[in-house]
Amino acid sequence: MKTIIEPFRIKSVEPLHHSTAAERERYLVEAGYNLFRIEARHILIDLLTDSGTSAMSTEQWAGVMRGDESYAGSESFFRLKRVADDLTGFRHMIPTHQGRAAERILFSVMCRPGNVVPSNAHFDTTRANIEFTGARAVNLPIPEAADTQARLDFKGNMDVAALASLIAAEGADNIPLVMLTVTNNSGGGQPVSLANIEAVEQVCRRHHIPLYLDACRFAENAWFIREREPGYASWSPKQIAQKMFSLADGCTFSAKKDAFANIGGFLSTNDDRLAQQQTNLLILTEGFPTYGGLAGRDLDAIAVGLEEVLDPDYLRYRIASTRYLGRHIADHGVPIVEPPGGHAIYIDAARMLPHIPPHQFPGQALAVELYRHASIRSVEIGSVMFSVPGGRPAPHELLRLAIPRRVYTQSHIDYVVEAILEVNDRKHEVRGLEIVEEPPFLRHFSARFRQL
Ligand code: F0G
Repeated sequence: MKTIIEPFRIKSVEPLHHSTAAERERYLVEAGYNLFRIEARHILIDLLTDSGTSAMSTEQWAGVMRGDESYAGSESFFRLKRVADDLTGFRHMIPTHQGRAAERILFSVMCRPGNVVPSNAHFDTTRANIEFTGARAVNLPIPEAADTQARLDFKGNMDVAALASLIAAEGADNIPLVMLTVTNNSGGGQPVSLANIEAVEQVCRRHHIPLYLDACRFAENAWFIREREPGYASWSPKQIAQKMFSLADGCTFSAKKDAFANIGGFLSTNDDRLAQQQTNLLILTEGFPTYGGLAGRDLDAIAVGLEEVLDPDYLRYRIASTRYLGRHIADHGVPIVEPPGGHAIYIDAARMLPHIPPHQFPGQALAVELYRHASIRSVEIGSVMFSVPGGRPAPHELLRLAIPRRVYTQSHIDYVVEAILEVNDRKHEVRGLEIVEEPPFLRHFSARFRQL
């Protein structure tokens, strides 16, 4: 059977609201053509992010009721700790309110001004938290990752030779840690192979540099390894994930992705001394170490989600559904970042709309058009997000369609496919945009545009 079905049924539903074309035109004008400024109730299908937008399961909601709200020594903490210990094997697990809080604590403790932190590709909050300490965040993706059309099994891999050269140039003492983001969000949700993690680990070990995973989408990465890397087809996703974690010295984790939680995260490490420093900082800004900025019920929801996400039926469906969206639009002429990733499809807007130059923001123009046409919200990842006023354009002009977990059905995905293909049929009519108002930092969240 080739029909993709959701491996769950629906017990509680949330209505979606249709709007008319005239209403959407008005919302766009009011929002200054910035989809972050549009009220969620005016969106039909929201593909802005896969973060914190998952549908929780019956068991997770049961966990919410079970949550122990004791300030210290909460049972919920120990339930999460048991699951996290079994999965990651790390000696210490410190809960945080989300991924970036784990990043801030990790880098505050480990980085000094002038240090360098390499990664296959840092996510924006990771980069920002590294740079906030005065250290430098360096991306070392494999060279092929720059070509959006290259179809590689593990396009999220790190360039191991480039890592070795960087260490030789900077000196191991100046590199407090190496990071690997699995899957690689900024690079299109592409996976990292176990062979690559092993190769990076060997280089790190030779130079006594700790290796940390940014493990937000560890389960999706594990599934790609099972499907694509020779030798792992008979392993369970959990065994593969355990092997991934066993190669690292610690991790940061946003439970808003692969733990199906609406909030939460954690920071793990094997280093007792670092864990002590991290805990001290945690108490200062996040909370007592057995809740770390979360309610007990959140810890329980994460504990359950971490186990559910490794269900092979779920992961098979998840990756197949994302691939279905990608293949159906790409095979009908919409250029995407190939091959389809785990949590999102990225349209190469520069290729799709060659008549719109980078300074007129083709990714943003496409996001606006998709909303106007079908009430779908997506996000630009291009020169609006990454370039500064008067600066060089971003290396790619992309539109990300991130798929919330267990939220939309295959018919919703079919609707998205149809909408994108209809926009593609009249893509020559799509017009560029100009910024009329912008803040000094992170302008994509609040800038206002004018249609040209
Ligand atoms: N690392 C990666 C790879 C991420 O994708 C994110 C968040 C974070 C860290 C930070 O985690 O949001 O819990 O603080 N990504 C979201 C996204 C926001 O839309 O891709 P957080």
